[in-house]
Amino acid sequence: MRLLITGGAGFIGSAVVRLAVARGHEVINLDALTYAACLENVASVADSPRYTFVHADIRDRSAMARVFADHMPDVVLHLAAESHVDRSIDGPGTFVETNITGTYNLLEAARGYWQAQGRPEAFRFQHVSTDEVYGSLPADPSVKFTEDTPYDPRSPYSASKAASDHLVRAWHETYGLPILITNCSNNYGPFHFPEKLIPVIILNALAGKPLPIYGDGSNVRDWLYVEDHAEALLTVLERGAPGRSYNIGGENELSNLELVHRLCAVLDEQAPRDDGQSYAAQISFVADRPGHDARYAIDPARIRREMGWRPSVTVDEGLQRTVRWYLENEPWWQALLAREGVGKRLGTG
Ligand SMILES: NC(=O)c1ccc[n+]([C@@H]2O[C@H](COP(=O)([O-])OP(=O)(O)OC[C@H]3O[C@@H](n4cnc5c(N)ncnc54)[C@H](O)[C@@H]3O)[C@@H](O)[C@H]2O)c1
Repeated sequence: MRLLITGGAGFIGSAVVRLAVARGHEVINLDALTYAACLENVASVADSPRYTFVHADIRDRSAMARVFADHMPDVVLHLAAESHVDRSIDGPGTFVETNITGTYNLLEAARGYWQAQGRPEAFRFQHVSTDEVYGSLPADPSVKFTEDTPYDPRSPYSASKAASDHLVRAWHETYGLPILITNCSNNYGPFHFPEKLIPVIILNALAGKPLPIYGDGSNVRDWLYVEDHAEALLTVLERGAPGRSYNIGGENELSNLELVHRLCAVLDEQAPRDDGQSYAAQISFVADRPGHDARYAIDPARIRREMGWRPSVTVDEGLQRTVRWYLENEPWWQALLAREGVGKRLGTG
């Protein structure tokens, strides 16, 4: 297949680009190269004859039409987005422009192209979204997000993603565009931009800095190793039913405090502190994020039942691999520490 992947210089998009090229697909990676992008993430495939990079912004509607005309993709995997909740609290405008208007531009360009091509049946517009659109769950472990959970987004980020999900679904119902939507839990793994919880904890630990925990650390997230997510996305692309959405989870629910303790234990093993103490001694509780959702948890029954997909990596194995990757790739993350906002507390409202 010839895949147009948006946001392929970001964390998850680059994992999908690497996997798709390895699988023999042709990939057009479209990315605006915002603060969150890093072309090193796709350096391993950059010389492949099956890989093309297009520097373009999904906020530019005519540029999107040109990309379809020039590259004639068989399918679209749409990941480009502003992705950091804390930044959405400080500056929601960019989230509206990129996540909502940008998705609208891409949908319109895709629709025009698909119609001009005679509505090929195999065409897909797959929109990569988040479980945060469903809002916040109570502590009761039997309650999880299913694909039928009503949308209830609570942050500017999740509201902008929810809006884009609705647009994508409307383009199916109204125009017949063969869309797919995936709603995924928190990802982690190699190439994770150092503003998100797991890389922040690893890098602060190594630098001897406090390990910031928002509030009391009781907020629960479901953690998915990024390469498992990439695999799930290609599975849904190949086997998903047009018009349908699929929840993707890691089956690894942990409170933030528990997660940080596990991460400290892995760091203690792989890069022990000189004084022999645990990195857990650096844990420091800081003011909570405004509107911080208490719990997210995915019911993965649909994707498991219909496609037999399950995550392959447990959280302990994934954290081991992730810490090892950060220890072995210091030049990658050192270069990112100078980027705007990195290392600062954002989104305090
Ligand atoms: N990270 C997670 O845990 C998670 C979980 C579920 C869903 N998602 C979704 O997956 C997608 C990818 O997330 P990520 O964590 O890899 O994000 P990221 O911030 O690491 O990467 C986003 C990429 O999109 C590009 N981009 C941003 N604005 C753009 C624009 N206007 N035009 C073109 N490119 C633009 C950036 O340059 C960057 O390369 C997002 O849609 C996000 O909502 C993320």
